Amino acid sequence: MSLQEELQGPPPAKLIVEHVSKWFRQKRQTVHALDDISLEVAEGEFIVIVGPSGCGKSTLLDIIAGLEKPDKGQVMADNQPVLNPGRHRLVMFQESALFPWLNAFGNVMFGLKLKPGLRNSERREVAKFFLHLVGLEKFMEANVHELSGGMKQRVALARALAPNPRVLLMDEPFAALDAMTREQLYGDIQRIWEKRRKTIIFVTHNVREAACLADRVMIMSPTPGRIREVFEVTLPRPRDFNSIQIAQHASKLTAALKGHAEHDAVTNA
Ligand SMILES: Nc1ncnc2c1ncn2[C@@H]1O[C@H](COP(=O)(O)OP(=O)(O)OP(=O)(O)O)[C@@H](O)[C@H]1O
Ligand SMILES: [Mg+2]
Repeated sequence: MSLQEELQGPPPAKLIVEHVSKWFRQKRQTVHALDDISLEVAEGEFIVIVGPSGCGKSTLLDIIAGLEKPDKGQVMADNQPVLNPGRHRLVMFQESALFPWLNAFGNVMFGLKLKPGLRNSERREVAKFFLHLVGLEKFMEANVHELSGGMKQRVALARALAPNPRVLLMDEPFAALDAMTREQLYGDIQRIWEKRRKTIIFVTHNVREAACLADRVMIMSPTPGRIREVFEVTLPRPRDFNSIQIAQHASKLTAALKGHAEHDAVTNA
């Protein structure tokens, strides 16, 4: 594959989650983490999952990534069952999980080890391209401890994008950042997603973040983890995090979350 093709990347994948259920069995108790989750995600769609702590968001993401196995049901990525982790579905976590002994460039190069068929000089070009894309071209040689929290997450994003996965799974990637840095990243992620279309599943607790980023928002509820409601967000992009429309969508999401929590409290009482 030529460097040019490599930089362009493959088309995004289609995902189908079919009747997935998951239990965690421990000595003292069994947790029903996911109950009959079904979801179809189109190529290049941006899905955001919101829901209270413990409703199974990370578990669902891990199953889609192939890091966990469902007890029932299956996940299909481009018509192939997901049985293991693969380089076409990469996960980005809340903490950037960068290697502290490598600099920014080294961390992105590390991600490219997953990529067969590239010469080392081509890997270097690809790594530079993605550090540029996330706005860190001036910090390639910086050590991890010299980077701010937002810059670390940018490096983590470049590292996840560089092997050209077809699906990006993001588990509260901006939760640990201050509000200003987060707002910058909402702009960045929209710009990057416009340029490098991926199928994205993004988990957050933040309803404004959900409204700002999503094509569709899935609302989940706990015990057992279920998808309760799906909201489409059809606002044009790029979206301004502080706009009235985003605030209006966010308050609808909050109302839905509260409604399900209250309903569940009455039913489980
Ligand atoms: N490895 C595990 N072993 C046992 N129980 C687990 C394991 N992973 C998750 N669980 C349980 O499964 C349920 C769902 O957990 P999960 O981490 O998916 O929730 P979450 O929605 O991501 O929560 P949070 O918003 O706090 O990150 C919880 O009750 C949790 O305790
Ligand atoms: Mg989680």
